[in-house]
Amino acid sequence: MSISYQHTPVLLHEAVEQLVTKPTGVYIDATCGLGGHSLEICGKLSPKGRLFCFDLDPAALAFAQTRLAHYKNVVFVQNNFDKLKVELYAQDLTQFDGILFDLGVSSMEIDSPERGFSFMQDGPLDMRMGNTGMTAADVINTYSREDLTRIFRNYGEERFSGRIARRIVETRPYRTTSALSACVRTIVHGPHVNKSLARIFQALRIEVNRELDSLQNALNTSIGMLRSGGRIVVISYHSLEDRIVKQTFLDAVSDCICPPQDPVCTCGHKAVAKKITRKPLLPSEEEITLNPRSRSAKCRVIEKL
Ligand SMILES: C[S@@+](CC[C@H](N)C(=O)[O-])C[C@H]1O[C@@H](n2cnc3c(N)ncnc32)[C@H](O)[C@@H]1O
Repeated sequence: MSISYQHTPVLLHEAVEQLVTKPTGVYIDATCGLGGHSLEICGKLSPKGRLFCFDLDPAALAFAQTRLAHYKNVVFVQNNFDKLKVELYAQDLTQFDGILFDLGVSSMEIDSPERGFSFMQDGPLDMRMGNTGMTAADVINTYSREDLTRIFRNYGEERFSGRIARRIVETRPYRTTSALSACVRTIVHGPHVNKSLARIFQALRIEVNRELDSLQNALNTSIGMLRSGGRIVVISYHSLEDRIVKQTFLDAVSDCICPPQDPVCTCGHKAVAKKITRKPLLPSEEEITLNPRSRSAKCRVIEKL
């Protein structure tokens, strides 16, 4: 295995400082990636502390496993983070002190042309973080024009969604990232074409990996897996993710989740957590200069009551 992969962890110290409140605690890194945050977490744990590292990507986990080999209190699980509870409850582990989500894809995934995540490099239209399920080619070549329009609009917020979807349907099949990019370039011209390509590729990636559903499910179950005082720390990178995190956290810290127009509360909901960050933590100018991929990051934290 190559050891030349680089992924600069985003908000590394800020996120881990918020997460680890007890050196002997039991923690989950739900998006281990290349293990940058996990390494920092391990550095804060005593030998009695434990860390469970999840990732869908077997290549990333293998890399992280080598990197963290020195630590004997780390367990690696290749699975979707919406299966945290199923996986860990099966091992009789039910109470955790903190769960970290650093969402999206790693640099290793984006920078590997054969994974098909980037419109900057030619590769197969794959985009799966794991090694099962439908690929981006399946989406592009089998979805109806209406469904392609919907995902480009909802997950990419792309202005030309309808026209791009129609052109794809008229000219498919597509097998490679460069062929799909060339198709988009027949619709979008001028200086904004790379922004449109980024939005179309983001939309496809979200659809292929069911990213927003997984996030919502994982956040819903994670709160119930925490001990009192345990924390959830989420680093998100775009508004669709952040909206889910913000709303789920707001519900968790609220005594009522009735629609605001309702005159009296009928939900009977009780707050289960408190906010630790009133406003999201953001990367400093210095971090953004050193690692431009951090520029859109937002980190939110809640603590179980
Ligand atoms: C931004 S990277 C994490 C980088 C990591 N914190 C580090 O410092 O190296 C996000 C990782 O989450 C993984 N991932 C994304 N969605 C996932 C999901 N639903 N379940 C499990 N892993 C997921 C990706 O495969 C990727 O490796």
